[in-house]
Amino acid sequence: MHLKKLRMIDFRNIEKAELEFDSAFNFFVLYGDNGAGKTSILEAISLLNSSKGMQKAKLSEVINYKAKGFGVLATLGSGEGLDDIEIKLTYQANKKEFFIDNEKLQRLSQLSMLGNVCWVTPASDRLFYDSKKPRRDFFDRLVYSLDKNLAKNVTTYNYLLQNRMKLLQSGKTEGIWLDKLEQEVAVLGVDILKSRMRYISKLNTILADYDLQFEYVGPVEKNFKIQIEDVEFDELVEKWFEILKFNRIKDLRINSTNFGIHKSDIKGYRSNPELLLESSSMGQHKKALIDLIIGHVKVIKSLDNSSICLLIDEITSHLDDKNKQYLFDNLEQLDVQTFLTGVRKSDFEVLKNKAVFMNIDKGFVNLD
Ligand SMILES: Nc1ncnc2c1ncn2[C@@H]1O[C@H](COP(=O)(O)OP(=O)(O)O)[C@@H](O)[C@H]1O
Ligand SMILES: [Mg+2]
Repeated sequence: MHLKKLRMIDFRNIEKAELEFDSAFNFFVLYGDNGAGKTSILEAISLLNSSKGMQKAKLSEVINYKAKGFGVLATLGSGEGLDDIEIKLTYQANKKEFFIDNEKLQRLSQLSMLGNVCWVTPASDRLFYDSKKPRRDFFDRLVYSLDKNLAKNVTTYNYLLQNRMKLLQSGKTEGIWLDKLEQEVAVLGVDILKSRMRYISKLNTILADYDLQFEYVGPVEKNFKIQIEDVEFDELVEKWFEILKFNRIKDLRINSTNFGIHKSDIKGYRSNPELLLESSSMGQHKKALIDLIIGHVKVIKSLDNSSICLLIDEITSHLDDKNKQYLFDNLEQLDVQTFLTGVRKSDFEVLKNKAVFMNIDKGFVNLD
């Protein structure tokens, strides 16, 4: 599966654009001045696979200032002998609608079954130095490729935690409602935990060849360390529930639920030479990010029938020439459709003859 065509209408500064992506190429370079609309194009692609997209923007924010709604249309090639698939996302009057081949979808997860979109933005430059929330979110995006219910489950989980806190604050520290709510939290928590563990174990198997390993750490991981694979789902839920119940008064006092998947962090280690990513140098950090992306692509490729497209925003500000070459060499071997942005065309000299170059200028797309 690959993106053949993208049409955008009134999306950010792009009033109308149509981009075609020749299937003979894997690399597509969008270059142009700051503010030209390069990131916006990647963002439009990212919205085809995720509810918020790579900029985590509200859909009302991405409507062109002069318009009342926007549309993103994509044609996906499904491979030889198979029909193309048309995807359409529209947003008007506060209403988002998705269509596949003009048929309206009930749930976004139906759409995301089609493929995976993974992105690296300038913010990823600080992934292992940053606070744990953006790192957890970044990894959850990766886990999402394996479990298309993950995003929805995390949202519901957080919503239930808020409700739990409200109940506690209103003085209801006992009762059937609170029990029921905590049980729901526990079911979702175990589900999310299992998905994360399944992903990280696949990733680590692949990254062993790169001397790189990742590990989830936090109260949940500590408590369930050995049991997670061996113990029945229901048993874990029961234990989780007991912990929440036991901690009610303590949680109320600190105004936060102390136990759960929302407290987890991810640590990265290099084994040779031994290195903790959070205390690595900038160069080591960037190399780890590349290896992580390569590992992720390999995880996706190991799944039946799964395709992936990569969005790499402002790569030239991320990487020196050596790392850039390393990334491109690996991507070439992996054979993935990759969209890259940058200010200067010359920054992508190494991709000459291997990429389609497009100049983006004040919201207009010009093929080289
Ligand atoms: N809703 C919107 N309507 C119109 N223009 C917008 C909207 N949101 C952002 N912009 C503008 O679109 C331009 C393109 O942004 P961006 O895609 O980030 O540029 P680039 O990545 O090429 O530097 C910016 O000048 C930004 O201010
Ligand atoms: Mg940009």
